[in-house]
Amino acid sequence: MVNAANTGSSAGAARRAMIALVVFLALAVLLFLFGPDDFYPWAKAIHVIAVISWMAGMLYLPRLFVYHVDAEKGSVQSETFKVMERRLLRGIINPAMIVTWVFGLWLAWKSFGFHGGWLHAKIALVLGLSAVHGYLAGAVRKFAEDRNEKPARHWRIVNEIPTLLMIAIVILVIVKPF
Ligand code: HEM
Repeated sequence: MVNAANTGSSAGAARRAMIALVVFLALAVLLFLFGPDDFYPWAKAIHVIAVISWMAGMLYLPRLFVYHVDAEKGSVQSETFKVMERRLLRGIINPAMIVTWVFGLWLAWKSFGFHGGWLHAKIALVLGLSAVHGYLAGAVRKFAEDRNEKPARHWRIVNEIPTLLMIAIVILVIVKPF
């Protein structure tokens, strides 16, 4: 009964996420086709807001894993961590990453025509950040199925990777050293 309810609610959540994604991608296409020049500072503001949300989630999620490792499998605490991890990933981290990419690419195209060493280096590092995102999303699934085998120390180390990438990315876009 509980399983049936869970399956129903996750199918509903997947459908809502898919509708949101399609609507957002349609808006992104309109932005690329008709985005006016004076929209630039607004797009940059939205980009930075999305970046902050993405980073907040990427720094918090591995921290949740550090505590989750110590919770006994099947305990109320462990089940609560699962809900927190799933909601953080689906409600904040995933949409924030999509908004960051869409507006970042638009800014890069509109103002720089995708030229600049700093921009290429930045995009390479953001691809790295997105790979870490994918790794963390896989870990959320493993924790949800009680299949995580990595110790707390592993998640403490993983926690540092987005921090280091973020520092390099922000220096590249603001200092533009090359
Ligand atoms: C997804 C790929 C991304 C692309 C293509 C991209 C591209 C850009 C571009 C072209 C700008 C405008 C720069 C200017 O007007 O001088 C910008 C602004 C900015 N981006 Fe990104 N970005 C991306 C992701 C990120 C990420 C992941 C972070 C942080 C972790 C970030 C942080 C910032 C910041 C702080 C600014 C404002 C810089 C300023 O106003 O001087 N971006 N981005």
